[in-house]
Amino acid sequence: MARMPIVAGNWKMHKTIAEARDLVNALKPQVADATGVEVVVCPPYTALAAVREAVAGSQIALGAQDVFWKEKGAYTSQVAPGMLTDAGCRYVIIGHSESRGRFGVPEPEMTEALLRWFGETDESVNRKTKAALAAGLIPIVCVGETLDERRAGQADAVIAGQVERGLAGLSAAQVAGMVIAYEPVWAIGTGETCDTPEANRICGVIRSVVARVFGAEAAEAVRIQYGGSVKPGNARELFSQPEIDGGLVGGAALEADSFAQIVKAAL
Ligand code: PGA
Repeated sequence: MARMPIVAGNWKMHKTIAEARDLVNALKPQVADATGVEVVVCPPYTALAAVREAVAGSQIALGAQDVFWKEKGAYTSQVAPGMLTDAGCRYVIIGHSESRGRFGVPEPEMTEALLRWFGETDESVNRKTKAALAAGLIPIVCVGETLDERRAGQADAVIAGQVERGLAGLSAAQVAGMVIAYEPVWAIGTGETCDTPEANRICGVIRSVVARVFGAEAAEAVRIQYGGSVKPGNARELFSQPEIDGGLVGGAALEADSFAQIVKAAL
């Protein structure tokens, strides 16, 4: 059975409530006919409620950018899985490289303390993924190598490890229903895209890890996105690859026109 492509916009720390509403209102008519692709927008927490209202009645689904694994408690700043479903979320991004403290662009102000603050690990990714699934959310788990790891020839091993540890203990059925995003850290927000055959090859590596750990059926069903400087100009080529089932889009998802073009490129 063919996998339904999924294109998700990761808005990161962008958009006020009014801007979020405007973006979705501009996007809706442009993707109304794109029924062969699942469309997701992941605004910041502050705009979830407004975007939920704005997408009502459309085929655009709502996602969040992170989640904590506890149901409730004294966890200042954190948001529980049940709070996200309550807010209308169907998806949640987990383990983005910016949460893991793995940045493609060196920023001197990213001090050690700040990196620790964001410090996501495969262990926390695993806990969050399990908690998200238990609450009925669909996780979009991000994996990807840094430039140093790629240059050292470690890309495949790093990614395989992230997949194995991040998804450890899940059932085959849970993995079949989720989404994995391959996001090479060096391609995020840099304008540099992983070349298409290599992006396809790595998505194939991810699928083979899923096959080895969870079985052929889960590997056949799990959707694997490419992310990292996806643009209207490169989306069609990337999404036409057999192992790539759509994209996780940052910068180009902040404008309705460019995001709509990327969505249509997955048709
Ligand atoms: P980008 O971000 O499209 O701006 O490179 C992708 C992502 O970080 O999910």
